[in-house]
Amino acid sequence: GRIHRHKFVVKSSSYTRLCNTKEILTVNGKFPGPTLKAYRGDKLTVTVYNRAKYNITLHWHGARQVRNPWSDGPEYITQCPIQPGGEFEYRIILSREEGTIWWHAHNSWARATVHGAFIIYPKPGFHYPFPKPHAEIPILLGEWWKKNVMEIPGDANITGGEPTLSDAFTINGEPGYLYPCSIKGTFKMMVEQGKTYLLRIVNAVMDENLFFAIAKHKLTIVGKDGSYLKPFTTDYLMITPGQSMDVLFEANQPPSHYSMASRAYSSAFGAGYDNTTTTAIIQYHGIYQPPKSPHFSPLPPYNATRASADFTKQFRSPGKVQVPQKVDTHLFFTTSVNLLNCSTDKPCAGPFGKRFSASVNNISFVTPPSLDILQAYYYGIDGVFERNFPRKPPNEFNYTAGNLPANLLTPSFGTKVMVLEYNASVEIILQGTNVLAADNHPIHLHGYSFHVVGSGFGNFDPTKDPSRYNLVDPPEETTVGIPHNGWVAIRFRANNPGVWLLHCHIERHVTWGMGMVFLVKNGASPRARILKPPPDLPKC
Ligand code: C2O
Ligand code: CU
Repeated sequence: GRIHRHKFVVKSSSYTRLCNTKEILTVNGKFPGPTLKAYRGDKLTVTVYNRAKYNITLHWHGARQVRNPWSDGPEYITQCPIQPGGEFEYRIILSREEGTIWWHAHNSWARATVHGAFIIYPKPGFHYPFPKPHAEIPILLGEWWKKNVMEIPGDANITGGEPTLSDAFTINGEPGYLYPCSIKGTFKMMVEQGKTYLLRIVNAVMDENLFFAIAKHKLTIVGKDGSYLKPFTTDYLMITPGQSMDVLFEANQPPSHYSMASRAYSSAFGAGYDNTTTTAIIQYHGIYQPPKSPHFSPLPPYNATRASADFTKQFRSPGKVQVPQKVDTHLFFTTSVNLLNCSTDKPCAGPFGKRFSASVNNISFVTPPSLDILQAYYYGIDGVFERNFPRKPPNEFNYTAGNLPANLLTPSFGTKVMVLEYNASVEIILQGTNVLAADNHPIHLHGYSFHVVGSGFGNFDPTKDPSRYNLVDPPEETTVGIPHNGWVAIRFRANNPGVWLLHCHIERHVTWGMGMVFLVKNGASPRARILKPPPDLPKC
């Protein structure tokens, strides 16, 4: 592999959308940020210069970073943040990743505008497992806020209520032609009739799963989260926050203008959701009378849980894969949105006069305030975290029934990690709950990809469901949606030592505490140990 060197300057830049000009955080002045490109197995360095007034860290979402947790990025998990004026050289070590992944800020809500695509080509001399497309285009699904997004979590913490929603979804930074103020900037992709194009789609929005479609054109899904899939063809796709997809489409319609459109899939009825649609234009080359407005195909309705599940259940790996057949570490994690009582210093604008919280196994994750977990572990510093994250929830209940007793609403708090032996073969049942409201929680694991061996609606049934697992060609993913009022089963081998965060990629949920941390021990051989820390690791 080769080494690519990059320089990322994080700074405030002025942008105008929806007739509103404001300063946003950017990398090198770009929104969305620059696209990283590499070949399978390469190494990259990205030197980050923090010229903003906020702390910053960056994460390479979908890169396993084998033995290299130091450059993984989540603040106070694997590093102290880069302070204003500071800098840090991230080292990205690619291994088996191929396809589309992405990068984003991993401190507070900075990722709202600080993100970009990360494309990994096959090794030189190798080819895609599908015919070479005529062209490739990154499609970043994002958002625009009239508000300063860096103030949203603090404001929501003061009230205890819902964080502010964005004012528009965007495609490559643009809200699209349905917004009178933004028609001119609408992202446009030129195509030639008869050619095939590869879209590298990333859902970079903070809080919403998204449906996406191109009017009158079929989509062929060929990859996800930096691994290939067995290709399948569909009219629409559903992509959760954190996921990336490689999607082919053939420009096989009469030359004209066609919409590319995206809107929310929001399964939690009652929670604030954004019912707006963002658009871009596919424009054919040639001489023809363009339509008054681009051809448009409606997307599934915002609450179409069936459409979401019908899409997702088609994921398969292209061939037989190495999925752990025997499991030695069985874990059962519930993911819940909870409520807390108020006090005079913590007011309440949440439902039932309470404030929001969220949890895994009824523990709401508390980020350490002054030192990251990785350094605390590596240097043996006590008092930063506890090693007793539970293997299952404190009590069994009917997870997916509504109207649960009040005691289940309230989580406890802690900075708890789960210790895994090197090379443990792990299964996690991720069980959604309807403690306050059911939602499709996109769960992301750092440091690994995992196989999704099963999923379903309702409560996981240990007597029946495992017999239906796909242990032959399950898809390999790094972010998986737990279906609304349902469960997924994932398996992986714990062969990457380090400190690795698992969390919901819906930002409001992780802000409320829907996360936990794995500490994977070193193996016996020197090549199964965490690398040495880089010399320029930021200080807290
Ligand atoms: Cu894409 Cu921990 O995140
Ligand atoms: Cu969630």
